[in-house]
This record gives sequence, structure tokens and C-alpha cells, in this order.
Amino acid sequence: MVLFMNNNEEIIKLLKKKEDFISGAEIANTLKITRTAVWKRINFLRNTGYIIDASTRKGYKLLKSPDLSIEEIKSAILGQSNIIGKDIIFFDTIESTNTYAMKLADTGCPEGTVIIADAQTGGKGRLGRKWLSPHGKNLYMSVVLKPAIPPKDASLLTLMSAVACASAIKQVSSLHVSIKWPNDIMTCNKKLGGILTEIKADMDRIFHAVIGIGININLDINDIPDEIRTTATSIKIEQDIAAFSRSIVTAEIIKELDRWYSIFLQNRRKAIIKEWLKLSSTIGRVVKVTVGANTFTGIAETIDEEGMLILRLSDNTTKKISAGDVTI
Ligand code: BTN
Repeated sequence: MVLFMNNNEEIIKLLKKKEDFISGAEIANTLKITRTAVWKRINFLRNTGYIIDASTRKGYKLLKSPDLSIEEIKSAILGQSNIIGKDIIFFDTIESTNTYAMKLADTGCPEGTVIIADAQTGGKGRLGRKWLSPHGKNLYMSVVLKPAIPPKDASLLTLMSAVACASAIKQVSSLHVSIKWPNDIMTCNKKLGGILTEIKADMDRIFHAVIGIGININLDINDIPDEIRTTATSIKIEQDIAAFSRSIVTAEIIKELDRWYSIFLQNRRKAIIKEWLKLSSTIGRVVKVTVGANTFTGIAETIDEEGMLILRLSDNTTKKISAGDVTI
């Protein structure tokens, strides 16, 4: 289902700004639409989960916003994102937003198109793993990008996305958020989220890349299976509050992605690597890296321009690692 309704985001902004009742005439004048159009849009918003009080004398008052909706996300990013999130496609349930986004990009869609689902039945993680994707709890989002770069530079897109996600979560919560190589979003030594980048490319250039972002927002401890309970967490668990607005977290991630993608397009690689290193919880520490059946122990010295981890081994040689699992 694709929803794009003009003025809905502006109405939400006006309702939120006012806090009290705002008259239909004031909304109509501000948005230069008729009062009947205002009424129709208020009804549309009610159907998408907004609870809005209406009084013939006083007008409209927003009582409650839905936890995750296109309108809520769009009203929070209004005018603050250039490429990412102009088109947002929302599914109640889908197999995987990444799989859908890769197919959509094949048939042609604007750069920056965002796919969001409330649940995934086949959520994909890194290294062929499954991604826990229950209904109504988390963010499952994929973004289609079309940068004119060779495939070897795709890992920089992942680093950039990890920086954007970590910065966004820091802004909307009071958590200490870090990045564990290559792209795990961490808090309190547990995984809050991850990024899965998929590309379609030939030898020389990328046709499109899909950045898949999964962030555990309102998972309760009981939603986390036993086998990952000591290693996974959510913003809600760590922040210890009733619930987080998933739309606000999503909007902040879209804004940060848009900002960091413009830095990427200006070819300012160093700025991305520098910020990644600043947010990293891996670099400078003794780590164990599992690559398939092999395990390497050493000091995580830095990452190179392609995002490879440089590990200093006990014999003082260095090893470049392109993919693996880090234990600190
Ligand atoms: C990881 O293993 O750390 C990466 C997890 C990426 C999960 C997200 S959820 C949205 C998108 N769709 C998927 O199937 N996977 C990614």
C-alpha cells in the first residue's frame, strides 16, 4: 500500500504545535485549503490511528498519535530531508523489507525510497542469519540508494548508515550508543540493531544498493528468545520507559541518513570514517574475531577506507578482515 497525501503532514504539525483546540478555519487558512478538505483529512488521519477530538465550536485537538505511521514520520521529517524518505512505502507484514526493496529497485523507483514494515516473516540478518521481527515492536526499514560508485565502496555505505543510526538513537534517547565492527548498533554491551547492505552491481559500478536497518525499539525482555537474551536488547529495555514512538526514532534515522548520505556524495570519506571511529566500541581493544571456522585474537587497530578491520596479532603482524563476528 502506497500512501501519499498532501497536507496531512502539515495538519499534524499544526495540531501538535497548538496543543489545545485549533479551529478548522485556522487550519484551512494556513494550508490554503477549504474547511471541507480539512475535515476530510482529519477523518483520513483518524483512520490511520490518530485520535483527534472535534468540537463544532472549538475545532480539532490531537489527543494521541499512532506509534508508527507514514504521516507521523513525514511530519517529523518535513523539510529536513532532501533525498531519503520522499517516498515511503508501508506494509503491515512483509517477508523482508530488503527483499522487497531489491525487487522494487530493479523495476525502477526514485533514489531514497523507504520501505517500512510493522513485522517481517523472513527478516534477514548478516551472514545468512535470521532477524527477529515481531509485530508492532521494532523498526524494520530498507532504503534504496543509487550512488555512482564501484562495488568495493559499498561497505562505506554501511559504515555511513551505522553512523547515522547511532547518532539518531543518541539524539532521541539518553542511551550511550556505540558501533561494534562492522555495523552492530550497541548499548550496554548488547545489540540494539544492525544493518544489512545488499547491492546489485557489475564489475565497475553499483546499479543500486539497499540499506536494511533493524532497530529493537519496544521489545520487552520476554520477546527476546533465550539464546540471544544476554546479547540483544531494545531502547525500551535499556531506557526503562513505557514505550518509545517508533515514528520519532524512524524520522530521526531518516534525517541522519540524509545528512550522512550528502557527506558521502561529496566524497568526504574521511569524515565518515572519523565519525565511525569516534562511535566505535571496537577500536583499541583486544578482540576475538570469528571468520567462518577461524578465530583471530588481537588488538583492533583501526578500519581502512573500505571498512576492513585491521587486527594486530600477537606476532606483531597485521591482518585485514572483511567480514566476521567480533567478541570483546
Ligand atoms: C544484522 O545482522 O546485524 C543486520 C540486521 C538487518 C535487519 C534489517 S530489518 C530491515 C531489513 N530487512 C531485512 O530482512 N533485514 C534488514
